[in-house]
Order: sequence, then structure tokens, then C-alpha cells
Amino acid sequence: TYVIAAPCIDVLDRGCVEECPVDCIYEGARSLYIHPDECIDCGACEPVCPVEAISYESDVPARWEDFIDDNARFFHRRLPGAAEVVGSPGGSAKLGRVGVDTELVGGYSHSNR
Ligand code: F3S
Ligand code: F3S
Repeated sequence: TYVIAAPCIDVLDRGCVEECPVDCIYEGARSLYIHPDECIDCGACEPVCPVEAISYESDVPARWEDFIDDNARFFHRRLPGAAEVVGSPGGSAKLGRVGVDTELVGGYSHSNR
């Protein structure tokens, strides 16, 4: 799967969402998240991100490797106020903006970069 890491936080360009043929890039509050089971590894999203937040999982820079599991956690853990995101929603457009983040993203400070 492809993964969205720290550079997306508070930027949310959303150019990636337009490119994704399976609509598997979901919006939290401060960042977007790629669904690891819905992503077909087409790679179309990666070059359009202006802040280079997107990488294939094995190419995620070491300082951001926590984001690999964290993208999955967004879907596999029950988030406060967003129970409907658990599992495989099958399309970001139909789900809409979720409006909450994982703990890693919600508490992220860009000074850690
Ligand atoms: Fe974020 Fe880049 Fe997409 S900033 S919303 S990952 S285009
Ligand atoms: Fe979509 Fe990017 Fe995966 S365009 S299918 S999230 S590689």
C-alpha cells in the first residue's frame, strides 16, 4: 500500500484524492489517510502531492515510519465520534470528511519534522 506521512498534516492539498481511481484516500481533520486494503498500489497519487507526503510503504522515510501503521489505524480502530470509519468504507466520496484523526496525527507537532 501507499502511505501518507507527516507532510500532509495541516496542508491537506487533496490533489491526491482527485487522482485515486478507487477513491481510497480519506480525510480526517488534520491529514488524509490511505486505506491499506482498498489501495491498489497504482501510484497515481504519489507524484501529485506538492509536499511529497505520499510514498510506497517500503519507501517511507525512517522518521515517518510510524505513519505506515497509523494510516491503517485510522480505519481499524474505533475513533471517537467516527465509528462509521471502522473497516472498509469502500469510497471516500460517499463517506465524506471524517473530521477526526489518529492520536499520532492529532497530537503531531511539525517541530518534530
Ligand atoms: Fe495531503 Fe498531499 Fe494529498 S498534502 S491531501 S497527501 S496531495
Ligand atoms: Fe489510490 Fe494512490 Fe493507492 S492513487 S490506489 S491511494 S497508490
